[in-house]
Amino acid sequence: MIILGIETSCDDTAVSVLEKKGSALRSLSHAQYSQIKTHAKYGGVIPEVAAREHAVTIIPTLQEALRSARITMNKIDFIAFTQGPGLAPALSIGIDTATILSNIFRIPILGVNHIEGHIASVWPIKGIEGGHASAPKLPALGLVVSGGHTELQLIKKIGSYKLLGKTRDDAVGEAFDKVASLLGLVYPGGPKISALAKHGNPRAYEFPRPMMKDVTLDFSYAGLKTAVRYTIDKLRVTKKMIPDLAASFEQAAIDVLVEKTIRALTLTQAKSVLVVGGVSANEKLRATLSVRLHELSIPLFLAPLRLTTDNATMIAMAAALNGKKPKLPKRVLHPLPRWELGR
Ligand code: KG4
Ligand code: ZN
Repeated sequence: MIILGIETSCDDTAVSVLEKKGSALRSLSHAQYSQIKTHAKYGGVIPEVAAREHAVTIIPTLQEALRSARITMNKIDFIAFTQGPGLAPALSIGIDTATILSNIFRIPILGVNHIEGHIASVWPIKGIEGGHASAPKLPALGLVVSGGHTELQLIKKIGSYKLLGKTRDDAVGEAFDKVASLLGLVYPGGPKISALAKHGNPRAYEFPRPMMKDVTLDFSYAGLKTAVRYTIDKLRVTKKMIPDLAASFEQAAIDVLVEKTIRALTLTQAKSVLVVGGVSANEKLRATLSVRLHELSIPLFLAPLRLTTDNATMIAMAAALNGKKPKLPKRVLHPLPRWELGR
């Protein structure tokens, strides 16, 4: 079976071709166009601008994915597209493309939850560097950390989830991006903060760890960002101070993620932990969780680096694994910008 994946929920236009043989998955191709340069000018993603860029790039990206998989549309068994959560105008372009292709080629389609896509990215897949050889032991605890999401999910299987906690305000990746912008670094700032933090002292500034000791498994990152802003306003920051500020912020942000993950593990008795989404590329988070979970003899599944940020391979993977049936669309499909998983 050959699945075409389409992802347009934010600022990446991505199309993938995935093969499913029995239960084995293999990536045949993946084409992606990043809009980072466009949005860097604004310091963040403007939904209407993102949608217009998706509209221009989606067909060339599709053509590239088909070309590099050496395949034509008539070989595609079904199309998986991101239906939500995400930016409504951006999601619409992927949904409309899937619908149009479905009508032209009579191919069934399936709407996929973007978070489920991130979670599926740690399931075994061939043809992707760092792809895992075996699936996480279930139930698994999923830490989903990206520019738009910060949540803990209990995963009974792909397709069955319980939301344990989520951010009440900003996502952790958003905090990385906003703090980066306060420090004069261009969007997206997460990777830049973590690169600078390597040369800084994580104890130089005492930033708060919001909700770390709270009884719920919810998160909050708006206060941490504000605390960094107050410190920057007070200090008249020089270039020399930036690595220390970056390291101290990164440490505070990660301490909360690690403590909440360990607490959720104790509460749920999950058998493995998986960490997915853009912020799961963060080396300090990866290293800290590896050490802590090793002490507890709990296996850790990190997303392969190529699948940490938004991509279409994970969307096709979720569709291949979640057991939902693709259909020929009979009516208009709408974006689900606030589609929550596990509620
Ligand atoms: O998953 P993703 O591509 O998009 C969303 O679904 O939101 O995640 C992008 C986010 C951005 O906020 C970016 O700054 C952050 O992931 N990010 C990082 C790192 N690499 C990407 N944050 C911290 N450390 C990193 N190394
Ligand atoms: Zn994402």
